[in-house]
Amino acid sequence: MQKRIAIKRLFQEEQAGQSVRVGGWVRSVRRGKEVAFIALNDGSCFASLQLVVEPGLLESLPEGLGTGACLSVVGDLIPSPAAGQRWELQVSGLELIGGVDESFPLQKKRHSFEFLRSIAHLRPRSNSFGAVFRLRSALTFAVHQYFQQQGFVNVHTPIITANDCEGAGEMFRVTTLDPQQPPQKAGVVDWQQDFFGVRTGLTVSGQLQGELFASAFSAIYTFGPTFRAENSNTSRHAAEFWMIEPEMAFCDLAGNCDLAEDFLRYIVGYALKNCREDLDFFAQRIEKGLIEKLQTLHQAEFHRISYTEAIERLLASGEKFEFPVVWGCDLQSEHERYLTEKIYDGPVFVTDYPKGIKAFYMRDNDDGKTVAAMDLLVPRVGEIIGGSQREERLDRLQEKMAAQGIAEGELEWYLDIRRWGSCPHAGFGLGFERLLMYLTGMENIRDVIPFPRTPGHADF
Ligand code: 4AD
Ligand code: MG
Repeated sequence: MQKRIAIKRLFQEEQAGQSVRVGGWVRSVRRGKEVAFIALNDGSCFASLQLVVEPGLLESLPEGLGTGACLSVVGDLIPSPAAGQRWELQVSGLELIGGVDESFPLQKKRHSFEFLRSIAHLRPRSNSFGAVFRLRSALTFAVHQYFQQQGFVNVHTPIITANDCEGAGEMFRVTTLDPQQPPQKAGVVDWQQDFFGVRTGLTVSGQLQGELFASAFSAIYTFGPTFRAENSNTSRHAAEFWMIEPEMAFCDLAGNCDLAEDFLRYIVGYALKNCREDLDFFAQRIEKGLIEKLQTLHQAEFHRISYTEAIERLLASGEKFEFPVVWGCDLQSEHERYLTEKIYDGPVFVTDYPKGIKAFYMRDNDDGKTVAAMDLLVPRVGEIIGGSQREERLDRLQEKMAAQGIAEGELEWYLDIRRWGSCPHAGFGLGFERLLMYLTGMENIRDVIPFPRTPGHADF
């Protein structure tokens, strides 16, 4: 059989006049007396290929040619007289591989994202989700390319772990114990009898292990699945999401912000250069002005303000917030969005948060009140990055752990890198789905992850 060529390559390499074989799924069929037009999409690019078919060729087909059907065709690529497309395929042979009937749920009309979520197994065949998941794939590659070019070593940190890095108690448990009758010791579950001999869960962050590797390879990054049993039913939280976590030795908070900024600019530039067709679709259908926003972002210097300044700006704004603003409070999403949308109208780093609201590993500032933390806030989405300079001083770290109720001896391996060859270091975590939401204009995290897991939902 003649080898199949991806429609994207067909368009790129302009194989005019040549006989080619393509395969794909029908988006629409228009039957005329003289000729039939079929729009065929194989997912390799946004555009469908227009097939020009003589009615005679269709007569010999079995039942089932309609939107959603799978076809394999051979034909010649010719310049198209129709507006909006350069090429079409004059079909000489056509095979209906998988037929359909009218019950196929993705008929050619606009569907709501809610409805499409209920058919997440079919939605990749729609224009919107084709564009989202091609972009997701392209940017996965761009993330690795950026860090590899910069000399960062990629680390696969464990998915099953015994430590709750963020200390928020949001771990999913991993166990092989019988849930009906777990073994007990002194009235509580005896985790020593569990598979790993300790209580384990799914990772909420690869940071702690990342720090160990940064203490050997200087600059590392992780990029993998992350799990949080947060019962927040918002459009920005998923129970399973992907996080990119770079960690750098010999780096302070300002250097950490510099890396985040440079990295984001690279990703935006990559998308503009390599994913233009999909971005144009988002600009047309999802967020007006998206391309200009990305072009500005690609050039912009991000604002940097301290938490204390942020609080002052919010207080001075005169805005009525649902959650009152006081120094020491955690910034709520309404505060974050006000800062980035109303005050700065672009990305802003907020740094040096009160130590009471941040994780144990962040480095104490000299003021005794704040830690060297940074969050990057962007319009519409809010926080997309959380990071910090880490506490590299053994005694300070031990004090902080005790203050946050971490049992002595629990993280000795983490303390060891402060015992031998300790080094100032910093890193951050970027939520990949939040980045995709920002770059596409998609408003719900469930629509940028192939099979979303959220409270009450683990379908497909
Ligand atoms: O701010 P977070 O909790 O930071 C950490 O986990 C650090 N250990 C990272 C580090 O310094 N290496 O999470 C980092 C980012 C957030 O800014 C957000 O983009 C994303 O992860 N994130 C979520 N994304 C989707 N759904 C959730 N439930 C998320 N929770 C955090
Ligand atoms: Mg955070």
